[in-house]
Amino acid sequence: MSAPAKTLYPASKKERSKIAIIGAGAVGATLAYACVIAGHASEVVLYDINKAKVEAEALDIAHGIQFTPMSSVSGSDDIEICRDADVVVITAGAKQKPGQTRLELAGATVGLMEKIIPSVLEVAPNAIYILVTNPVDVVTYVSQKISGLPFNQMFGSGTVLDTARLRWLVSKETGVAVQNIHAYVAGEHGDSEVPLWSCAEIGNVPLRHWGPTLSGGLFDNELRERIREDVVQSAYRIIEGKGATNYAVGLAVTRIIGAVLRDEQRVLTISTRLEDWEGISDVCMAAPTIVGRQGAGRVLTPPLTLAERDGLTESAQRLRQAARDLGY
Ligand code: 2OP
Repeated sequence: MSAPAKTLYPASKKERSKIAIIGAGAVGATLAYACVIAGHASEVVLYDINKAKVEAEALDIAHGIQFTPMSSVSGSDDIEICRDADVVVITAGAKQKPGQTRLELAGATVGLMEKIIPSVLEVAPNAIYILVTNPVDVVTYVSQKISGLPFNQMFGSGTVLDTARLRWLVSKETGVAVQNIHAYVAGEHGDSEVPLWSCAEIGNVPLRHWGPTLSGGLFDNELRERIREDVVQSAYRIIEGKGATNYAVGLAVTRIIGAVLRDEQRVLTISTRLEDWEGISDVCMAAPTIVGRQGAGRVLTPPLTLAERDGLTESAQRLRQAARDLGY
């Protein structure tokens, strides 16, 4: 008797997973590209109201799938394309002009979310929702209110990118691989964000005990402040030079999606609804949070200094006020 034939492709329905990206601008298209390369899902779809643009972006990526892990990619101006997605990422929104802060985009963006969220919820009610559109913390808070979804199911990309920028800068000062820099940025994804220096470690050495940097200086307040400022100014500088940031944010969000779809339970500084965290409530902002198939899980409570705690409280107030100003 011959052995039953094995089917190599396609994967069974159960093994298939689908990422839907709303918005085919620089961030959405780069994210789709990064997701296809990472191979986190068997299907990546792009939705945008600009039919010609969304179809062209998807086609350009699709032509390269011979060189990536198995997946398919398609684009449409019909929201149906997002049906039954496992993860929905929202990148659509107003573009930040040179010198403009993220918070200044809030008014234009919230109106857009009031339109997009109900329509995508209709076709993908069980997805994990990741907001990327700026100002991401305010957009996440407002979108949670619009959707009525449980807080774990909808969160923002927060300061995952800022944390990566901080680690890159510390890595350059120390010559240690960026993967071994255990430092986090929390608070607003924007001007009031707070690097959690007091609990930062290089390998297993607390940053405050690190000896001379490569340039011979110390990790003193002056250097920390210079790095904080550099992280805050990063996006402004890139927008000044090329009009938008897209590559690192594409990779950062791909990392978050991987944590969800592979149920990795990773600690990531996503923007999540905080209730009585370090005395902060009723706001969405970044804090080290466990991310897996459940979406946003437990929020960690690292030991903080008073100054860090004050900085986070101020950041939360600023974000809460921005939401209130928009009627949320
Ligand atoms: C960034 O930080 C603009 O929020 C975007 O790159």
